[in-house]
Parts: sequence; structure tokens; C-alpha cells
Amino acid sequence: MSLLTIKDLSVTFDGEDGPVHAVNNLSLSIDKGQTLGIVGESGSGKSQTAFSIMGLLASNGRTSGSVVFDGQELLGATQKQLNQLRARRIAMIFQDPMTSLNPYMRISDQMTEVLRLHKGLSKTDALAECVRMLDAVKIPAAAERIRLYPHEFSGGMRQRVMIAMSLLCRPDLLIADEPTTALDVTVQAQIMDLLNDLQREFGMATILITHDLGVVAGFCERVLVMYGGRVMEEAPTDPLFETPTHPYTRGLLGAVPRVDDEDAIMTAIPGNPPNMAAPPEGCPFRPRCDFAGEDCRVMPPLVPFDGDRARACHRPVAEVAA
Ligand SMILES: Nc1ncnc2c1ncn2[C@@H]1O[C@H](COP(=O)(O)OP(=O)(O)O)[C@@H](O)[C@H]1O
Ligand SMILES: [Mg+2]
Repeated sequence: MSLLTIKDLSVTFDGEDGPVHAVNNLSLSIDKGQTLGIVGESGSGKSQTAFSIMGLLASNGRTSGSVVFDGQELLGATQKQLNQLRARRIAMIFQDPMTSLNPYMRISDQMTEVLRLHKGLSKTDALAECVRMLDAVKIPAAAERIRLYPHEFSGGMRQRVMIAMSLLCRPDLLIADEPTTALDVTVQAQIMDLLNDLQREFGMATILITHDLGVVAGFCERVLVMYGGRVMEEAPTDPLFETPTHPYTRGLLGAVPRVDDEDAIMTAIPGNPPNMAAPPEGCPFRPRCDFAGEDCRVMPPLVPFDGDRARACHRPVAEVAA
């Protein structure tokens, strides 16, 4: 059974010059224990999708559609209902751990508070469990270092603390929004390895949000490619990499360094993502797309193909191995 089902989610902000349609008619579903990647360049609407699930949209934002978690509608849920779910059943980690860590509190106090509040553990039991979790995210000398303040950790170690904290209540769903983007490359790889191990060990469904298609390859079973607030393509990970058919997906893949071929030239997609306050008419990728034609002035519908794939494109690239 599906753990999370999003249907026709749209997010609109009241902008200074009129409405900003940050997310348009997005649908997705994720089962217990599944891993889903949401990939797209900056401004695609990835974070606003996550914030809608968590009830964390900015005050000038509105949602429509439906977000059902384990049978419960989350759009329009009260703060009390959302607080019941957040941390306990749905946890989120952000690009910058300092957005969720209190700089003035010791890690021990921040972490034990979660368990005391949500699980009613005693101080001693909570502390023991928190140290166990810091061990699980491979923080050396966890029993001592749990007494430190956030700034006493490196960026990578802070992200480990955040991951430990998000897993304390054994959530059914973890949403990781660019969890490694702020870290340098070697640390990025270590954190992704860690997340991979923890996902297997704890078995939580995970939505990994990233602008880097390379990151989802080793982690996600399915991928949703977003651009300009819309789903461009959706597919199981392997077929998406083997035969990308949406011009935008192919563009993103071109920007992924090839591990198997060091001489392959890395090409970013020319141009920039649209200004979502004044997006192009029709397909948002049209101005940057080599294949675009007049028909692309009308947004193509998301059409299923190959059984478990779907894409929104009038002019898909020939379905041959790339
Ligand atoms: N409070 C806000 N008011 C107006 N526009 C916003 C607000 N928050 C986000 N946006 C716009 O929503 C769009 C999608 O943002 P976001 O989901 O954060 O992108 P990303 O894919 O990089 O995570 C962007 O164009 C952004 O400018
Ligand atoms: Mg974002």
C-alpha cells in the first residue's frame, strides 16, 4: 500500500508582481521502504513540494490538490495534527543543518528533547539512545561528543548529527532535501554512503531531493525529474539512465560526470532555468530545448509509456540507448 500519495499538488505564492506558480499539478506516490529521487535544477519546485508535505510553506504560499500520508490528508491539517506526524513519522533533513540545529544548545539536549517529547523516555534512556544513534551515523567518541555545541562540529559531522536526529523516532518517511549540497565532494560521498546504509538498516521510505542526477543513481529506485514547477519525466532509475527520452533529462545526464569514462566531456545545459514569476508559455524547458517546436507552446501532458515510465514532451528523443 502506498505510504504517501500526492495528487495534483499545486503551490502558488503571492509574489510582488502577481502569483508565482512554483509547483503545478504534481502527482507522485511512494510505498513503505521505497526510495524516490526528485531531481531538477535550482528553482524547479523541489523544496516547495517537500515543504507542502511537511506543512512548512512560507506564509504567502497556498496549496491545492491532495497529499495523503498513511490515509490522512495533510493539506489543510492543523498544526497539532502535523506536529504529531513530524519527527515521529515523517522527518526531514535540510541542505544546511544549522537551519534545524539550535546553536545555543548542546547536541545532547537537542537530541534527548526529541525522544522525551515524542517517546516519553527518561533522561538517562534518551541519552543512551541518542549516543547509539550518533554511533550509527559513525560519529567517533559519540558518548563524549554529544556534549558539544553544533559549531564545534565540522559541516560533515553536523550533517551526521542531523541525520541521527531525524532517525531518532524511526520515521516511516525521510525527506532529504539536498543533504550534501553544502559539503565538499569527498564528504558528500561519505554522507551518501551513510544514508544508503541507514536506509537499508532502518527501511524507511526516503525521498531524496537533489539537483545532481549522479547522486540518485546509487540511491533511488525511482526518479522524478522536475523543471519549472512541473514533472518532466518519471521512471525507474536504471531505464532513465539507460534510455533517457526527455530532452531535459538528457541535458541533466550530460551534466553528470561519467565514472566509466574520464575523458567524457561534461556539458551543462546552456541557459538558465526560467524566472517562475514570468515563466515561458507552454513547456517551461522550451527556450533551452534543442528539439522544441511551435507545438511546445502548449504544455504537453504527462503521458505513461513503457509500463512504468511517464514523460511530458511533444518531441521526445528517439528511444534508443544513449
Ligand atoms: N515565499 C516565496 N514567495 C515567492 N516565490 C517563492 C517563495 N518561495 C519559493 N518561491 C519560488 O518557488 C520556486 C520553486 O522554488 P523551490 O521549490 O525552492 O526550488 P528548488 O527546486 O530549487 O528547491 C522558485 O522559483 C522560487 O523563487
Ligand atoms: Mg531547494
